[in-house]
Formats: sequence, C-alpha cells, structure tokens
Amino acid sequence: MITSINPYTEQAICSVFAAEEPDVDRAVQAARKALKHPEWRLLSGTERGHLMNRLADLADKHGEVLAAIETLDNGKPLSVSRSYDVPHFSEVLRYYAGWADKNPGSVIDVGPKKMAYTVKQPVGVCGQIIPWNYPLDMAAWKLGPALSCGNTVVLKLAEQTPLSMLYVASLVREAGFPPGVINIINGRGGEAGAALARHPDVNKIAFTGSTATGKEVMRMAAGTLKAVTLETGGKSPLIVFDDANLKQAVRWAHEGIMANQGQVCTATSRLLVQDGIYDRFVERFKAFTEETSVLGDPFEPQTYQGPQVGKAQAERIMSYISSAQDSGAEVFHPHKHPVPSKGYFTPPTILTNVGTKTAAFREEIFGPVAAIARFSSEEEALEIANATRYGLAGAVFTKDLGRAHRVARDLEAGMVWVNSSNDSDVRVPFGGVKESGLGRELGEDGLRGYYTVKAVHVNLTDE
Ligand code: NAI
Ligand code: MG
Repeated sequence: MITSINPYTEQAICSVFAAEEPDVDRAVQAARKALKHPEWRLLSGTERGHLMNRLADLADKHGEVLAAIETLDNGKPLSVSRSYDVPHFSEVLRYYAGWADKNPGSVIDVGPKKMAYTVKQPVGVCGQIIPWNYPLDMAAWKLGPALSCGNTVVLKLAEQTPLSMLYVASLVREAGFPPGVINIINGRGGEAGAALARHPDVNKIAFTGSTATGKEVMRMAAGTLKAVTLETGGKSPLIVFDDANLKQAVRWAHEGIMANQGQVCTATSRLLVQDGIYDRFVERFKAFTEETSVLGDPFEPQTYQGPQVGKAQAERIMSYISSAQDSGAEVFHPHKHPVPSKGYFTPPTILTNVGTKTAAFREEIFGPVAAIARFSSEEEALEIANATRYGLAGAVFTKDLGRAHRVARDLEAGMVWVNSSNDSDVRVPFGGVKESGLGRELGEDGLRGYYTVKAVHVNLTDE
C-alpha cells in the first residue's frame, strides 16, 4: 500500500493499492488487448476525439472535487487548482481531441509508375510515468497525444499524489473508453515504474521527473529499443538587461520561481541581472516577494504559497539553502506572515552573492529559491546562462528588439520567453535540450512521439 499524505496537516489522507510487477504486467496485457480490439482499433480519429471531449467535459463537471483533491494531496493553493490545474487538464484533452482527425499522412509523387503514400499509425502500448507537481496536468500532457493517435496507455502516477487521477479513472469509464485503453496505476518508482520501463510489451515510454531517474528509465527502455520521450530537470536562467521594464521583470521573475511552491521544471531559478539595474531589481524583487508570499492553509483564498509536496522535498530545499549560506551567499526570506509551524513549508528565499559554481546555483532545487547573479555584458550573460548541463527554458527582459531575438537564439534551451516567464501554452511545443529532455510535449510537435510513419509503395504497372 501507499499512504498519501496531506502536506499541510502532515496527516495521512488514505492508503491506496501499490502496483507491483505482476500488476503492471496485467495492465500492460490489458492495454495490448485493447490495441487490437475493434472497439478501439476501428474507431476513426473523429470518434476518438469525441471520447476525449467527453472525458474533458466530465473533468469540468467534477472540477470542484478534482480541485479539492489536488490541493489536499499536493498542497497547492485551491485557487490555483481551480483556476489552472483543472481547466488545463480539460483544455489539453480538447486540444488533442481536435488533432485526432487532423493528422493525416501524405502522398509522395514518385512518377507515373508507382504511387507512394504514408500513414500515421499508433506506436502501440505507451507506458507513461508522471511526477507529483502537476498530477492532473502531467497526466493530460501524456494522455492527450497518445489517445489522439490511437495508442493505448498504462499511466503510472507519482506515489506522493495519486488521488486526483484515481478519481479521473472513474470518469474514464463514464466517458465510454473501451476497457483497457486507459490503465491508471499507482506504485513506487523503483518497482512499478521500473517494471513498466522494462516491460517487453510496452512500445514507448514517456517520462517526466528528475534527470537522474530519466536516465535510468532510458537505460531500461533500451532493452527492447522502446521509443522514449523525457521531460526532466532544469535550472533555467532569467536575464534582466538595464533597459528592461523593471516592474514587468520583477513580477514575472517572481511568478517564474515562486509559483507552485517553486516546484516547476521550467522555474526560472537563476536570475541574471545587469550591473546598471541590479540594486534596484534586487530591492524591488524582495519587496514584491514580501508582499505577495502569503504562506498558509492552501484552502484559504488569500494563500499564495502552500507547503512543499512532502517532508523529503522540504528538507532537501532547506539543505540547499544552508549549503549556500555556508559557501558565503546572503540569504533573504521576504514574507510578511510567519511560516506555519505545521506543514512541510519552506520560506520564499532569495540568494545573492551566490557563487556560480555552488550547488545552489547549478543544481535543480525545486523549491521557492531564487539565486541572483550580476553580469556586465550580453556576452557574459549568455556565458553564465549556458554554463549548465540543463537546457529547458530561459527568459530575457529587454526593450531592445535585436537583443531579444539574439539572446533567444543563443540561449541553449528548448523554450525562451521574451519579457515573460513560464507562460506556457497548450498550442506551443514544450521540452528541453541537453540533460533537460528528449522530444516535445504540447502543440503539434507533441503528437510526434505517438505515431509511427508507415510508407506504402504501390506498383501501378503490369511489370
Ligand atoms: P523522480 O524523478 O524520482 O520521480 C518522478 C516519477 O518517476 C514518479 O512517478 C516516480 O515514481 C517515478 N520513478 C522513480 N524512480 C523510478 C525508476 N527507477 N523507474 C521508473 N520510474 C521511477 O523524482 P522525485 O524523487 O519525486 O523528486 C526528486 C527531484 O526530481 C525533485 O526535487 C526535482 O528536482 C526533480 N523533479 C522534477 C520534475 C519535473 O517536472 N521535471 C518533477 C518531479 C521531480
Ligand atoms: Mg500527498
């Protein structure tokens, strides 16, 4: 069994079944069977889209319950679960429902003697492993394109936050998906997750989580040469030039690292600020953080920051902060209200004078911790920004159009925001380079990992 904890009360919510290898095998066999079943295999894209839209409608109908479960299990503010996590879940399903009958193959002109065409076919059984920071949305990002392309799925939830997607599992049945098309399991990473990544009857693995686990998943998937998409860690830079709109830069920089308790893979956790604006930026950033960061009960409407997802994560964050302090960084915790004594809270944290070689500046902390460094020239900013094994995202603040596009081109990242941060969009591809991932989710590019292209050659002659 896995006991899910409410990170605000530190109390158990309930215990749920933890799948082990034989259970994973049963789920995979159910998915294999469903792949061949006429009720799924013979559906047109349009009909698959209808099923997906029905699931989206049901999620909206049950939105209040889903939002409450998400907040109870993960600790994120209810205002966020309501306004972002739940609506985004159905938005992603609807977006990919729309693609289900708009993703055709092509006819290739090879002259009069032959006809050649391609068809896009499902990859097969897709193993999908998701993390705990956006339990509903990470599931939608994976289910959406997989179902759109006609695959079947075994989705493994994160052990910290299984409850919202278990509720969705009951809606899947109500939406009318044939049995076996969507299999949702709980289980520990090293057992259920690894069993899925190794399983010879799984054709594709999609993973979101830490870079270390992503590498492990890729190694296991290599056993049967599974297709792999990975969305892993980041340490994304946000660069503020002297000519930036200061108010705008401060607000987005705050959102970019403090939202969702800092538990965001694309969090812009390294702030690089040019000399001429540095002092004013740091002062305004501290003031804005102090004003905004209301810590407390995630069910209270005024709460901006809830607890971290669990004890281990909170302790990990605090150890990064104390090691930064030990290596000479200045540490600020700007917040008006006291940090609640119960719950896995970490205070919003701003680090200055933090060496660019220290762990706090180089490693993914996954908490509300901003490390600020200064730079003089555009060249130096890019050098610091790119001196990392990660390459998920980056942001640049400037009014100079030429510089904005130059920096956007030269940042080693899968996504760049100009004068904003973490403003992702279902229609726009999401993913990283370097050790931040492989492949893309969202947008049309998100479909690519979920179909194979078959080429058909037709001899039109009697030869
Ligand atoms: P993790 O990467 O170990 O867990 C993510 C998912 O992978 C979970 O469903 C887990 O059960 C599964 N998993 C774990 N070990 C596995 C294995 N050997 N084989 C197959 N699946 C496995 O991340 P964890 O331990 O929850 O968090 C540690 C750090 O990872 C965080 O502090 C953060 O830095 C990073 N992280 C990044 C995320 C992102 O969105 N890129 C999300 C979650 C964590
Ligand atoms: Mg929990």
